[in-house]
Amino acid sequence: MKITVVGAGAVGATSADNIARKELCTELVLLDIKEGLAEGKAQDLMQTAALLGFDTYISGSTNDYSKTAGSKVVVITSGIPRKPGMTREELIGTNAGIVKGVCENILKYSPDAIIIVVSNPMDTMTYLAWKSTGLPKNKIIGMGGILDSSRFKYQLSMHLGCSPSDLNAVVIGGHGDTTMIPLIRMATWNSVPVSRFLTAEQQEKIVKDTMVGGATLTALLGTSAWYAPGAAVAALVEAIIRDEKKLYPCCVALEGEYGQQDICLGVPVIIGKNGWEKIIDFELNESEQAAFNKSADAVRSMNEVLKGLTV
Ligand code: 2OP
Repeated sequence: MKITVVGAGAVGATSADNIARKELCTELVLLDIKEGLAEGKAQDLMQTAALLGFDTYISGSTNDYSKTAGSKVVVITSGIPRKPGMTREELIGTNAGIVKGVCENILKYSPDAIIIVVSNPMDTMTYLAWKSTGLPKNKIIGMGGILDSSRFKYQLSMHLGCSPSDLNAVVIGGHGDTTMIPLIRMATWNSVPVSRFLTAEQQEKIVKDTMVGGATLTALLGTSAWYAPGAAVAALVEAIIRDEKKLYPCCVALEGEYGQQDICLGVPVIIGKNGWEKIIDFELNESEQAAFNKSADAVRSMNEVLKGLTV
């Protein structure tokens, strides 16, 4: 079984590295438009196989989509990352055309693929993939909430002095510095609400630091992060390939759920072999629903910008 990662930049290569180590496929194709980049990173990754003990066969291709034929899952990471001080939304002018072209090429060779969108602005790029491919909506999944939720757990663990894996914490809404919604009210530390251990001020700081988690790293690194995004991609791919029925926050097409339609936005979904299989209603309270609606309005305005572009 084959998986393709489009984009051999830091996020794409780290995604490929994690997918290979987990042996989620027999063949992994890494594709990039830059001459030799995907081939080089694929070979470098293959040269870890003997040391790390995986048998995934990784190959690279410079923009030859025939090599991706028959992929079960395709991960789209292509496009430019943001620089310090930029928002994800500012990337739309460059990345929309790239993502549209990638979707067209993917469909030629893997018409039944499940597509995972990582490229930013991710919510709008997911909407673009949904509308331009015409694939069933359950086969189009934007990866943002899994990453943001892991950052949420990191922030909580730093305050609680606990293991991040003992935390249940979910971020829904857009994958933007001002549009994501860390659901602090529902966060638990081994089933105990975190509010039992944190002051209101601490909770507010955790939410704020989570929302700008990506921007904070971009300021430190000079470019977007890649370790946590790559790990989040692999977790999502694993849930699909192993039909795990995991409950993850993912950006999916809403057609009335959470009071929204004709939009792709982060909501809790069940992930399995068919892609996203069911949207789960968390029954948001009034303030959470208001934040969700505000997030939807912001993402919808980016979708309008997309419609105004000639891609
Ligand atoms: C991030 O938040 C790249 O959007 C991704 O790091």
